[in-house]
Amino acid sequence: MGNKIINMPAARIGTQWLVILCVAMAASGTNLDSGICPVAGDSGCRGNPPDQARYDNYRIYNVEFENQEQIELFQKLEEQSDSLTFIGHAREVGQKLSILVAAHRVADIADLLKTYKVKHRVLTYNFQEKIDRNLAEVQPESIDASQLDWQHFFHLKTIYEWLDKMVEKYPNRVTVLDMGSSTQGNAIKGVKLTSNANNKAIFIESGIHAREWISPAAATYIINQLLTSQDPKVQQLAQDYNWIIFPCVNPDGYKYTFEHDRMWRKNRQLFGTCRGVDLNRNYPDHWNSTGSSSDPTRYDFAGPSAGSELETKRLIDFIRANAGKEQIKTYIALHSYSQMLMFPYGYTKERVSNYDDLQEFGKKASAAIKAENGRDYVSGSLFETIYPSSGGSMDWAHSEAGIPIAYTFELRGPPDSQDLFILPAVEIQPTASEAFTAIRAIVEAAAEKGYYK
Ligand SMILES: *[C@@H]1O[C@H](CO)[C@@H](O)[C@H](O)[C@H]1NC(C)=O
Repeated sequence: MGNKIINMPAARIGTQWLVILCVAMAASGTNLDSGICPVAGDSGCRGNPPDQARYDNYRIYNVEFENQEQIELFQKLEEQSDSLTFIGHAREVGQKLSILVAAHRVADIADLLKTYKVKHRVLTYNFQEKIDRNLAEVQPESIDASQLDWQHFFHLKTIYEWLDKMVEKYPNRVTVLDMGSSTQGNAIKGVKLTSNANNKAIFIESGIHAREWISPAAATYIINQLLTSQDPKVQQLAQDYNWIIFPCVNPDGYKYTFEHDRMWRKNRQLFGTCRGVDLNRNYPDHWNSTGSSSDPTRYDFAGPSAGSELETKRLIDFIRANAGKEQIKTYIALHSYSQMLMFPYGYTKERVSNYDDLQEFGKKASAAIKAENGRDYVSGSLFETIYPSSGGSMDWAHSEAGIPIAYTFELRGPPDSQDLFILPAVEIQPTASEAFTAIRAIVEAAAEKGYYK
């Protein structure tokens, strides 16, 4: 693929530098132990800061476009700068957009907003504070998986050990599934909850975007509810359907958000000087046609070709092998944020053949959430509701794998969230509960319409 080209030379250059550095330091009497960390890794390098991205004094601006000139200005800005993280792209008049602005660009951006009279609000003045608070809500990787709860966030290792514990605890109902390994050799592990071999199945895909931590948390919540709830309606749903749930389909990215950069989204495939394909732009369905990038430095890079990534291939192979065999009739992809319940298509405003049904089920699901927590979730086709995007898993599942009920949820917070993807842990439980409520509403409504006959 040509993506490992700089690996070796870079390592060699690094070694040469190290030798020069050591000689220079020895000559000047500098103690090697005292400061510089020559190679990656932590041995012999105490006291040095970890290799972790920081967002001190980064601001979140929420801008509103009132004319075409402003839209073009922001399209140009996004193109030119890697110190601005756009949450979406500038597209239309009336649109609101959140942008994470690096500290050294704050004066510049504030000036531009003023110069071009762009309507805006500052949602957050120091994004690192949000991240610090969030990292304090992570349980240590060494914690026993029986301690997993929905008041904290958990490492990949803990989530996977918890899945194993569920199998031990409910051996007749739970089996572990493994799609195979990721790009960096982590397992893509899930579970199947079986009540009856003849049941239709519901598939839940979580964590395709690494930084959306609420997604894997919601997946474990749903597994736990299906296995332990005393609510007769939940028990009925666990009885009437088999559930296939993969909490973390992008394990490399998820790990990276814990260890190095809380804002990482893509997988960790190497492309020369940068990494990562947006797996939810990589599916072979109208791939690279709209709302994705062909630039590997971008957050929505579609990859070098359709279905190029190992994680995408694993998911596709799994669904192809099981859609018929397991009778998968529903595909749910969990994301954050924006509070939206969306169905295909993402790549076009054309309507799917069962648009009216999916619209109706989506409306029922948002009403159910509203009744439960008072939260507003918007529903509609993905193209109409959030922004056009192609190569997504949901479009593929519906069009290519023939799964009639397909949704992508954007969970909390609201579109103008001050936290972006950094949802406070206190919101895990209610958010996961909303997700499950919406799924139940959709499944019950679809059952009434005969989708699971
Ligand atoms: C993806 O689409 C862009 C824009 O249409 C095009 O320039 C690029 O060559 C495409 N990439 C591939 C690999 O086909």
